[in-house]
Amino acid sequence: MAHFKPRVFSGVQPTGNLHLGNYLGAITKFVALQETHECIYCVVDLHAITVPQNPKELRASIREVTAAFLAAGIDAKKHIVFNQSQVAEHAELAWVLNCVARLGWLNRMTQFKEKAGKDRENVSVGLYDYPVLMAADILVYRATHVPVGEDQKQHLELARDIAQKFNLDYGEEIDALGHGEAFFPLPEPLIQGPATRVMSLRDGTKKMSKSDTSDNSRINLSDDAEAIAQKIRKAKTDPEPLPSEIEGLAQRPEADNLVGIFAALDNRTKADVLRTFGGGNFSTFKSALIDLTVARLAPIGAAMTELKRDQAYIDGVLAEGAARARAIAQETMKSVKDIVGFVR
Ligand code: TYM
Repeated sequence: MAHFKPRVFSGVQPTGNLHLGNYLGAITKFVALQETHECIYCVVDLHAITVPQNPKELRASIREVTAAFLAAGIDAKKHIVFNQSQVAEHAELAWVLNCVARLGWLNRMTQFKEKAGKDRENVSVGLYDYPVLMAADILVYRATHVPVGEDQKQHLELARDIAQKFNLDYGEEIDALGHGEAFFPLPEPLIQGPATRVMSLRDGTKKMSKSDTSDNSRINLSDDAEAIAQKIRKAKTDPEPLPSEIEGLAQRPEADNLVGIFAALDNRTKADVLRTFGGGNFSTFKSALIDLTVARLAPIGAAMTELKRDQAYIDGVLAEGAARARAIAQETMKSVKDIVGFVR
């Protein structure tokens, strides 16, 4: 696998508000990787319509996520920022990969089971096929590294299985066409640090999520200082003081979550945070967490508001990013067509 050029790809769905989980689990990683890698960041609107969307709100959300990327520090000139539906090759490769992926593999996807719930017969075919499109997103750029939160781990494993099966099924052709022993790299998930799974502020056993009906369960990137302070003050805790050692966080999901958020926002480890706050009560810790969260998020919220005023600018960034993404994706698709045996 040595011949693949390191390249980062990741995506965020334009559905509802971006929250602290998206920010710490994904977007801060996107920003950091720009220093060392060529990066492609995508607003995955094709994924969004796997569940019903209001078209007006979808359009606004695509621009909102783009503004969040830019406000957080993603450099759309040096790297690529675009929305998925502008590059038709994602859907085109997804079809080919649909014919590689096995039904049994998709049947094991836990996120589908959670999202479909009891209404399994009534959800869209797209929702079921969602992880194959995700594999196509990554593989159409032959990306090697994918920064994501913990909840995407299984989807990444599926993308690796699909890549490997394609390489094996078409091995002879891949070799004959001069691509060496493998056409697709096996993309590596990057899931590291203290906040790979940020939990709800109301229930430390539930993931912080856009779809939670309680807005108090999450901190949105667009929340102002007052809203952030209120939500953290109201965040669920337990009656014990904070432990001084990391082992003391076991069986204390709310404490563990808040300490993890602090650590991630302050670029420290949880152990280090506990060295500062261990033995103290939650109210002192929460005050410090409020200050830290506001200091980190308020400038991003302000920059997002500013950027969203200039819709033409945002749309220009997306169009330009899409043109550059398309050039790479088209090259991949030419090879895929040759490998599979299509005439072009
Ligand atoms: P999405 O839009 O649900 O979430 C975007 C990113 O945020 C991470 N995330 C979290 N991280 C920590 N704690 C949380 N509570 C939390 N909630 C969300 C997600 O793990 C993700 O990294 N299927 C993907 C989008 C996608 C994609 C891709 C990602 C489509 N194609 C290709 C990588 C590569 C999704 O729905 O993410």
